[in-house]
Parts: sequence; C-alpha cells; structure tokens
Amino acid sequence: MINTAGVPRTTRPDGTMPTREELLGTNLKITDFVSEGIAKFAPNAIIISIANPLDAIVYRLQMNLNRDRSTIMGMAGVLDSARYKLFIAQEANVSVENIEAMVLGGHGDDMLPIRSACRIAGMPVEQFVSPEKLDAIEARTRKAGGEVVKLLGSGSAFVSPAWSALQMAEAIVYDKRKIMPVSALLNGEYGVNGLFIGVPAILGKNGVEQIIEMDLTDKEKEMFKNSVASVQKTANEVVALTNK
Ligand code: 2OP
Repeated sequence: MINTAGVPRTTRPDGTMPTREELLGTNLKITDFVSEGIAKFAPNAIIISIANPLDAIVYRLQMNLNRDRSTIMGMAGVLDSARYKLFIAQEANVSVENIEAMVLGGHGDDMLPIRSACRIAGMPVEQFVSPEKLDAIEARTRKAGGEVVKLLGSGSAFVSPAWSALQMAEAIVYDKRKIMPVSALLNGEYGVNGLFIGVPAILGKNGVEQIIEMDLTDKEKEMFKNSVASVQKTANEVVALTNK
C-alpha cells in the first residue's frame, strides 16, 4: 500500500511557505488515523509512505505498527534522484536515460546527491559537468521540492512523487530486486540505529530485501552525518508530540 495521506506544503499569502517539518503536527494526527486503518484492513501489506515530512511520518507509522523493517519504507530518494538526473542531463546536454545517480540521506534540504556515484553512460559525471556547475545542480536538487511548490502556488509536486512510488511498487510486485534509494529503517548500517534514512536498497517481493552500504567520500560522509542529525531531530519531535 502507498500512504499519501497528509496535507502538502502550500505557499502562504505573504509568499513564504512552511517547511516540511512545520507540517508535522497536522500530518502526525492523520498518520495515527492511517495506522489504525492499516492495522485493521491491510496488516500484511508492504507499506511505501510518501507523506511529508517523509522520514518522520514513516518513523511514526513504524512506531504505531512495529513492522518487520523489510515491509515498511519511505519514498524520497527515487524522486530526488530523478530531479538530480534531469538537471545533470540538461547541463550535459545528453539524454536523461544516460544518467545514473542517487540522492541519499533524509528528504530535507540537506539530502545528499552522491556525486561520486554519478555516471553518464558509465563515465564519471565530472567528465561532462564542471565542479562549479555540479555544486549548483546539487543545491538546486536539495530545494527542488520547494521550487515546485513555488511554481504551483498551491500544494506540492504530485505527478513525480506518484511515478517514483510506482517504480518502487513495480520493483516489489514484479520481484525485480532492483537497487533504488529507499528511506529504510537502519539497524547499524551507515552507523545509524532506529531511524529511516535514504540509502540504496534492493527492492523485491519481500520489500526491502537488502540494504547496500556504499563507499562515500569523506565530504559525503560528513554531509550524510548532517542529514542524519536533521532526521534525528524530527524523529525526536515525533516522539515528543506523542508524549503530549
Ligand atoms: C517533494 O519533494 C513534496 O516533498 C515532496 O516534491
């Protein structure tokens, strides 16, 4: 099942918009209601959650449902990677089908596009795009969800998240064993315990079949730590809001 239940980010009359975290209070109430429904009507379904703040909502679902971690995950990395790939393709002026890339970490403004694993037809991205341009593209990728909110004026991206979740569902339904960036519950991998973080994982008929530990550069490791700290902060807020 794919959980989309939650209110989206919408531009305020003064032109500003709430952060994903500001949506937390409202969306947690909705998530608790959804959890009851899943427990009652779909106790064995594999769950892909999309509602924002992504990593926190899937964390709350897991708090409520206590699932085997293979059967519960968040969709963020597929969408963030699709945006990264598009911007790279535009800059390199080649087909997006030639780009292989992954965005990991939390689904917030400090998510991390993994430049060291970005390839164009198997060649390192740096062969086609300058480091300065890559810096700009990676910054744009981190804020691309907000860019869509601004363009739409009301609500957030909906077509691209739907296609992204569908790719994950297809990998599971057709048992593709496809490696994709997935917000998965980490159990010591990447030095993280008990949080949902975007990492490469094999998706197949059992859901998250394996988490892949990827070699990161020192800079990427540092960025990953920062992103984990943000996700931890939101998870703490989720727990605090439960205890009220
Ligand atoms: C996005 O990145 C809504 O968080 C979603 O577009």
